[in-house]
Amino acid sequence: MAKFLFVTDLDNTLVGDDRSLAELNQQLSQHRQEHGTKIVYATGRSLILYRELLTQKELLVPDALIAAVGTEIYYNASESDPDPAWEKQLSSGWNRDLVVATGTNFVDLLPQPASEQRPFKVSYFLTEQAAEEVIPHLESLLKEQGIYAQLIYSGGKDLDILPSQSNKGLAVEFLRQHWEIDATQTVVCGDSGNDIALFSVGEPRGIIVGNAQPELLQWLSANQADYRYLAKAACAGGILEGLYHFGFLL
Ligand code: GLC
Ligand code: MG
Repeated sequence: MAKFLFVTDLDNTLVGDDRSLAELNQQLSQHRQEHGTKIVYATGRSLILYRELLTQKELLVPDALIAAVGTEIYYNASESDPDPAWEKQLSSGWNRDLVVATGTNFVDLLPQPASEQRPFKVSYFLTEQAAEEVIPHLESLLKEQGIYAQLIYSGGKDLDILPSQSNKGLAVEFLRQHWEIDATQTVVCGDSGNDIALFSVGEPRGIIVGNAQPELLQWLSANQADYRYLAKAACAGGILEGLYHFGFLL
């Protein structure tokens, strides 16, 4: 068995079925010990909300944490400073104040809590009904002002605005280069819109859990490939199913 890079989203992907989570943890922990497999969490949560989750669920200590939808990379959850080399790549063309000022033009955008507003992430709640009209309009307003931003809509409720050079997938690519791990030895797992970048940057093996959100399923149906697997089981059960499917676990 060879070492691999295991990357997973947290909410409704790794976390959501405690029994399967315990089994997956056991398998991954053993694989890491025997083969040096690396474990990475890629979440939309800030470090603050990640630490909150740690008090509620049994999670393995990851080799790296990609937080705030890919805009921050930590190697240790007790550190409060993210990797400065990654942050440096995100600054060009980004103007946070201007993004926030542009957002105030839309009454449908409700700012998320302060903990989720980050140096390279501006986040709102937005209903599905309003999203169709607001997202393209906001996108073109930002572009007109020369801001290199991308809009990511997840779970029919969360809108994140990030620098174009960052998302979960680009952060994984950064770690892959750093650790010299090939995309074919990388497996990424997710359930919602902010995970699409995990599957679409490069060609890693992908596991879409059985409980995936419509926006991810829609993307998958337009982007089917044999290195992308739609699991039948939900959450950690779906991850285990996919790891067996690709032969990462026997
Ligand atoms: C997490 C974050 C939130 C973000 C959402 C979707 O819930 O806390 O800020 O909008 O993920 O990416
Ligand atoms: Mg999720």
